[in-house]
Amino acid sequence: MLRLHELPIPNQRVLVRVDFNVPLTADGAIRDDTRIRESLPTLQALRSAGAIPIVLSHLGRPKGVPRLELSLAPVARHLATLLDCPVHFAPDCIGDVARRSIADAHPGDVVLLENLRFHPGEEANDETFAQQLTHGAEVYVNDAFGAAHRAHASVVAITRHVRWKGIGLLMEREITALQRLLSMPERPYTVVLGGAKVSDKLEVLQALLHHCDVLLLGGGISFTFLKAQGIAVGDSLVEEELLPIARHLLEQAHAANKRVLLPVDVSITADLHDEASPRLIALSEGIPEGWKGADIGPRTVRLFTGELLHARTIFWNGPMGIYELAAFREGTLGIARAIAQATRQGAFTLVGGGDSIAALQHLGLREAVSHISTGGGASLEFLAGRPLPGLLALTSNGQS
Ligand code: 3PG
Repeated sequence: MLRLHELPIPNQRVLVRVDFNVPLTADGAIRDDTRIRESLPTLQALRSAGAIPIVLSHLGRPKGVPRLELSLAPVARHLATLLDCPVHFAPDCIGDVARRSIADAHPGDVVLLENLRFHPGEEANDETFAQQLTHGAEVYVNDAFGAAHRAHASVVAITRHVRWKGIGLLMEREITALQRLLSMPERPYTVVLGGAKVSDKLEVLQALLHHCDVLLLGGGISFTFLKAQGIAVGDSLVEEELLPIARHLLEQAHAANKRVLLPVDVSITADLHDEASPRLIALSEGIPEGWKGADIGPRTVRLFTGELLHARTIFWNGPMGIYELAAFREGTLGIARAIAQATRQGAFTLVGGGDSIAALQHLGLREAVSHISTGGGASLEFLAGRPLPGLLALTSNGQS
């Protein structure tokens, strides 16, 4: 796989696939520009080499139909401010309008093409669409780690229509950091996993259990495991059909001498809204019917913190409670604090997933962890050992 400095970029038009799929507020403002900022080193390197980056991205899931609220136009404005250079925004990613924007750009300018997913060809990995996307450019750089698990036209098919292809600086940083967790992590290696659904994370759970020493489970996914152990979980989120698998996973972990820790207390509520009045209960009592677990409690935070402060390598993905509701944020914030402290003590720490990153941000601790991954799903698939289509496409059939 070629790296940025191995590609012939000087004075070229260079296609750069980024992941500008940023969260937006209800009125369309950018809520978190991490993904845009993280792509700047690659764009700056190309500009310094006199290249014109032609930037490709998706935003949201418009399913092949243009939708005004998912336009990349606000991102283009923000990018121009961050780069302090002209960003030519093309209101379509293919065709004459795109060609005109590209023709108007001078070396060092940037072109951003409109949301790729406004065309059905993107998700269909369509060859004709991919060919149209190249606009005659011969060099393609994939810097969209967050989309590397998607076999879409701008990620996979496009690589068959360019002469040169390789990875950008962000992609390289992401791979290096995640690889460190896969190959010989310093031990103990502790994984904290949260989020809503076990089914989304089953495969990665199995793979992570294989690699790590300690697994701390919180958030929605923990209730299926708690129930599998015979604990009453009331109306908490449980995937009944996965109970046998959860039980089996716990047995496997035990047999392999791995430690899996589940919450020992939780904040419960009868209604999920911001004004809810939560009750704190010990799980040894069980959660009463009509109530659901919505956050880990302070004893669990202390228990998990103790584990994290002993770890030498930590991976965290997913909130410990319903993070979007202020009443159920404390558990996630507690884990964020503990991971920052573990980093200060010398652990290598990697955090992925929107809510986990938001918790660090909220506490001003973004810079206090070793690596923040811009890929939620992509980082989980990478750690599950699944080949990512976006990376495979850059290694197969060389650079011709
Ligand atoms: C992400 O946010 O994880 C990536 O941008 C991929 O988006 P998708 O899940 O809509 O394909």
